[in-house]
Amino acid sequence: MKSVVIYSSQTNNTKKMAEAVAEVLNCTMTAVVDAGDLAEFDLVAVGFWYKAGQPDPATQEILPKLAGKKIVLFGSHGAAVGSPPAENGMAKARELAAGADVVATFSCPGEVDAKFLEMAAKKDPQPPWLAAAPAAKGHPDAADIAALKAAVQAIV
Ligand SMILES: Cc1cc2nc3c(=O)[nH]c(=O)nc-3n(C[C@H](O)[C@H](O)[C@H](O)COP(=O)(O)O)c2cc1C
Repeated sequence: MKSVVIYSSQTNNTKKMAEAVAEVLNCTMTAVVDAGDLAEFDLVAVGFWYKAGQPDPATQEILPKLAGKKIVLFGSHGAAVGSPPAENGMAKARELAAGADVVATFSCPGEVDAKFLEMAAKKDPQPPWLAAAPAAKGHPDAADIAALKAAVQAIV
């Protein structure tokens, strides 16, 4: 099975996850914006960061183009693991990838850019995930990466 990891990452949290996935799948990784034609790949692992409750814009664009492929979805968020904002964002990714066979999903907290945190705190109402964001500091950590690797290993 020919695999590739494509990822979107502004502050490297998702990139760190992408590196771990590429290691398990023993495949190359490339930024979503540089992904080009993916016709040759059977399995595409897609890494994204959460923005406004959904996958980041570059990922939103590519997900509908993966119909017919096996895909792994992984993401990082300021939200707490398992919280509605975290779950809803992953559900949105699945929805956008309609027609693809989602073989695994994984998400974990990713440290939120300090400047953005400051800005977001001034919003009224505040985004629903913001209260959990301070706890994302230092993530993804070694345990997150180990759990991600295990999730991907399970489908290899
Ligand atoms: C502009 C902006 C919007 C964000 N929106 C959300 C959001 O809606 N939900 C959430 O859980 N995290 C949100 N975050 C937090 C990021 O998704 C999180 O820090 C992620 O790990 C960043 O990944 P990256 O380092 O790969 O860019 C937002 C961060 C920024 C900068």
